[in-house]
Amino acid sequence: MNKSIAIVGGGGWGTALSIAMARAHDSVKLWVFEPDVAETIRRERYNPIYLPGVPVPERVHPIDSLEEVLSGADIVISAVPSHVCRDVYRKMLPYLNQEMVFVTATKGIENETLMRMSEVITDIVEAKFTPRVAAISGPTFALEVAHGEPTALVVAGPDDDLRRDLQRELSAPHFRLYTNPDIIGVEIGASVKNIIAIAAGVVSGLNLGHNATAALITRGLAEIMRLAEACGGRRETLAGLAGLGDLILTCTGHLSRNRQVGVALGSGKSLNDIVSNMRMVAEGIKTSKSTVELARMRGVEMPIAQQIYAVLYERKAPQIAINELMDRELKAE
Ligand SMILES: NC(=O)c1ccc[n+]([C@@H]2O[C@H](COP(=O)([O-])OP(=O)(O)OC[C@H]3O[C@@H](n4cnc5c(N)ncnc54)[C@H](O)[C@@H]3O)[C@@H](O)[C@H]2O)c1
Repeated sequence: MNKSIAIVGGGGWGTALSIAMARAHDSVKLWVFEPDVAETIRRERYNPIYLPGVPVPERVHPIDSLEEVLSGADIVISAVPSHVCRDVYRKMLPYLNQEMVFVTATKGIENETLMRMSEVITDIVEAKFTPRVAAISGPTFALEVAHGEPTALVVAGPDDDLRRDLQRELSAPHFRLYTNPDIIGVEIGASVKNIIAIAAGVVSGLNLGHNATAALITRGLAEIMRLAEACGGRRETLAGLAGLGDLILTCTGHLSRNRQVGVALGSGKSLNDIVSNMRMVAEGIKTSKSTVELARMRGVEMPIAQQIYAVLYERKAPQIAINELMDRELKAE
């Protein structure tokens, strides 16, 4: 473990990753967007906004300058929300070099371009050199990772050596990485499960019972598989940690913000009210737009994602969305 790690994004996930990495590395740099948050982590050793109450070890160095955080980095892990990923990489570009490898830990599909995050990173960095990019994903609530609860996830990318290097460098006590060559399947799974989680929250907010949740997870997985395959990914990937694993977690775990958004919608709150009270990101809200568009372009049927899009952006009543899902033409499984 002698590679130097820089984590870009000091939200809940970036902070938790820095804590996990500090269990295996002597020093980890963490870029924090808000200078006051960086200062509080430095002084008081906790992230007051995005991961309150969890001690951040001295081995983690919070920094608000991209130049400083990237200087000397071998592995750059980005954990920023998907809608700022492009902008953050643009600002990083002057400080990037060919020796670095890039790992995206973000879950989302860009609204404007329908690109996955590894594609966004390549799109920006290609102006300077062709980057080596991988993705990490899986069932990983930030709080549990920060507390050192056992967690398994996947590192995905087309380059065999890179995957194995990253597996070795990023594995840490109670933080176990598996490799998978299918970055498309992993990133599609990571992104679309958040929409299904909103749907699971709606089911819970409407008090529709466990049968409905189990059906939703299963049929949600079927539509994620269809999209992943249409985009060039493998169906089997979605049976793994970054597919079914993450889907179960986000659809059933109370810590899931996307599920919480769904619960609030199901309880009758409007999207405006929900997001105006949220400082943290619920990626499923934005990614439902990109997913519905991507599905339309690729000719993939995604009834759950379409209904959630309609609830979020067309003010469809959640109960009507559920009724329409149940009243669809009868089909073979
Ligand atoms: N929280 C989790 O448990 C978890 C787990 C796995 C993956 N993820 C993914 O990680 C990504 C980040 O999520 P999070 O939970 O850490 O977010 P968060 O809601 O905890 O924090 C939001 C982050 O966005 C940053 N930010 C806001 N505006 C910005 C801007 N203009 N430029 C740069 N940064 C800006 C904030 O500083 C903060 O770091 C998401 O894609 C999420 O799906 C989260």
